[in-house]
Amino acid sequence: MIKFIEDKKIFHLQTNNTSYIIEILPSKHLGSLYYGEKIDFENDYERLKLKLGLEMGGQVAYDESDKVFNLNTAFLEAPTYGKGDFREPMVHLRHRDGSRITDFVFHSYKLLDHKPKINNLPETRAFNKETLKITLKDKARNIFLNLYYTPIQEIDIIARRAELVNNTENDVLIEKIMSFNLDILNQDYYLKTFDGAWIKERQINNQKIYPGIYKIDSKKGVSSADHNPFIILGKEFTDENLGPAYGFSLIYSGGFEALLEVNPVSILRIQMGINSFDFYWNLKSQETFYTPEVLMSFSSSGFNRLSLNFHDLINQYIIKPEFKDKKRPVLFNNWEATMFSFSQRKLIKLAKKAKSLGMEMFVLDDGWFGERNDDKAGLGDWYCNKKKIPLGIEGLAKKINKLGLEFGIWVEPEMINYNSKLYNEHPEWVIRHPNFKPSLGRNQLILDLANPEVVDYLDNVLSKLFSEANIAYCKWDMNRNFSDIYSQNITAENQGKLLHLYMLGLYDLLNRLTNKFPHVLFEACASGGNRFDLGMLYYMPQIWTSDNTDAHSRFLIQYGTYYGYKQSVIGAHVSDSPSQQVLRKTPLETRFNVSAFGLLGYELDITKLTKFESEVIKKQILYYKKHQELLQFGDLYRLKNPFTTNEMQVITVDKEKREAILGIFQTLEVPNAKFDLIKLPMLDKNKTYKISVRKQYFNLDMFGYLIKHALPIKINAKSILFHLIKNRYLFSAEEDTQIVKGEVLVNKGFIPKQPYLGTGYNENIRLMGDFGSRLYYICEVNNDAKG
Ligand code: DGJ
Repeated sequence: MIKFIEDKKIFHLQTNNTSYIIEILPSKHLGSLYYGEKIDFENDYERLKLKLGLEMGGQVAYDESDKVFNLNTAFLEAPTYGKGDFREPMVHLRHRDGSRITDFVFHSYKLLDHKPKINNLPETRAFNKETLKITLKDKARNIFLNLYYTPIQEIDIIARRAELVNNTENDVLIEKIMSFNLDILNQDYYLKTFDGAWIKERQINNQKIYPGIYKIDSKKGVSSADHNPFIILGKEFTDENLGPAYGFSLIYSGGFEALLEVNPVSILRIQMGINSFDFYWNLKSQETFYTPEVLMSFSSSGFNRLSLNFHDLINQYIIKPEFKDKKRPVLFNNWEATMFSFSQRKLIKLAKKAKSLGMEMFVLDDGWFGERNDDKAGLGDWYCNKKKIPLGIEGLAKKINKLGLEFGIWVEPEMINYNSKLYNEHPEWVIRHPNFKPSLGRNQLILDLANPEVVDYLDNVLSKLFSEANIAYCKWDMNRNFSDIYSQNITAENQGKLLHLYMLGLYDLLNRLTNKFPHVLFEACASGGNRFDLGMLYYMPQIWTSDNTDAHSRFLIQYGTYYGYKQSVIGAHVSDSPSQQVLRKTPLETRFNVSAFGLLGYELDITKLTKFESEVIKKQILYYKKHQELLQFGDLYRLKNPFTTNEMQVITVDKEKREAILGIFQTLEVPNAKFDLIKLPMLDKNKTYKISVRKQYFNLDMFGYLIKHALPIKINAKSILFHLIKNRYLFSAEEDTQIVKGEVLVNKGFIPKQPYLGTGYNENIRLMGDFGSRLYYICEVNNDAKG
């Protein structure tokens, strides 16, 4: 709900639990007045205002009629540079006369009954929500800044963005334009960021904010694994369930910046937007520049609530409506099984096995096209290599479909190798400077998607591929960052536009393809999670989270990712052990349990599985399918943080709190371990629940010499007999079924069976081992249909 309180010059935006208040200052600048827990429309707004009582030394009075007021100690919504605000501006312009002074003041506002669409950019699909449009005007010129605010009431989110309109006769150069600016008082806030690199994406960092500027950004042309375009502010005491937390997420997949600045009077400035580094945009007369949208949320009850707001946002308002709540198939992907070296026979063998294990889709990864036998050639040539696949893609898809599986395919359309037909035909389509030998990443160059001709070409060639064969899924990969940033298709004064024009070209291409092929499930990927953001999710409803599929690394990566992203968009595959990325051995059951809190797939040579592994995987898939809706779409809460403890615990709960799945994971086995008590405040204290552990199986290998005590027959762990049976025998872990009142689970907690004590084993012991884990299905007693 949005109200303009005219006599007080206040805009008050409310969601179910939050208020966002903006004021028109006496100087006509737009001020940030309040963002936090909901307060009444009927209010003494004067009491919210922090302002100086006297002229302050060292400041520049904005106007001599009021010597006290200066822009540097004001809380502003759209600050610029040049009139005494010495902090980072939201918008920085270079005008025709060489001046960099811009001064935006209130001009007008409109209350719209809908959210206007943004030109060619991904955005929240909250189009029927009322929106506040505030227009500011530069005091000296006909340059306007439109600010849009859309509260999405039920999920406590406010969407914001800005538009710069040049109604002068001349060009104006944009040197920086952020999607939003918010000034609040710094009260010992801590900043949480999600940082990393290839194969260790979205690791959590938390730090206190001090006076000065703190910035995370990406200069890589993609949002990047280095820093995610999602940040959180909280207090030292804020935890998952208590305390205030603000979240900000940018809907953009290119280079971005998120900036915090604390000035000497402790005002904390927060901004996010397209990276201003190496960006300049010559805005011609009568043109408009559109910034990407940013989503803000506030929770007074900790990080879990904040994350759930973003999770609901993703499922309800970001991903394409046809995929909302749509169960994603359990897939097999051949990458970690074969890499580039496969034959048609091998693929079909893998597919048959995938089917027999209960999988639903077969995905053919890199290596099927052109001369792609390694990563040095072929990108750009999107036609089948018949030497490898004589049936062609169409024939292979048919064959796979006949086996009872859907067929999916991998592409990397934004890229090109020197060694390709496309490069021979169109060397000018590449991003590079003619006087420099371009630097390569993974032996490849980037196609210039700022050039509409390239976008048209890719649209045609991919449309042909998607229509010739029965393709149900497409993994859209992108494996290098941008260097040699220059386009031979753009004039000198417009080169600073290239990276953003590239993004607009990519979004245009994705828009065309996903609309033409609405049934195709697209999965974004960029060397794993190098472009994990809301921009990609707008077109493709899921993302390959990381190239690291090791179960332990994965639970850290997924845990960090859950802060901003729902598990229904997180691709998570079971791979081989030892892991190809870290050479670590982890139990097969844990590899599944981690993947179960994402979109399950298998990515290992399943034709080489032992009997033990095949049987265990069959049971895993049956379990996942039985609980697919809950695992993919339940409300996910974090219980224990693997970055700061030896454990990770998460739970997914349906909206009515009738059923849940709890996952407990440990890093290393602890000798003589403590008791476990797992408090579950998210359950309903008025219900009674039945809790049952998922039946898990050990390979006898786990026991070593203890095998003498674990099996009814005496057997030597070094004997040949032992080696013969260990890969066939399914040794089941403890049973654990309990009926517990909700009030006990909420107030005291769930008590799983006693962990291994180092002396013997029986059915009352929960043997976890290094990287051990369990899943518990929890359901309301009279809702026990799934058992
Ligand atoms: C990088 C991806 O993240 C991998 O999953 C795989 O598809 C390779 N590219 C293929 O080249």
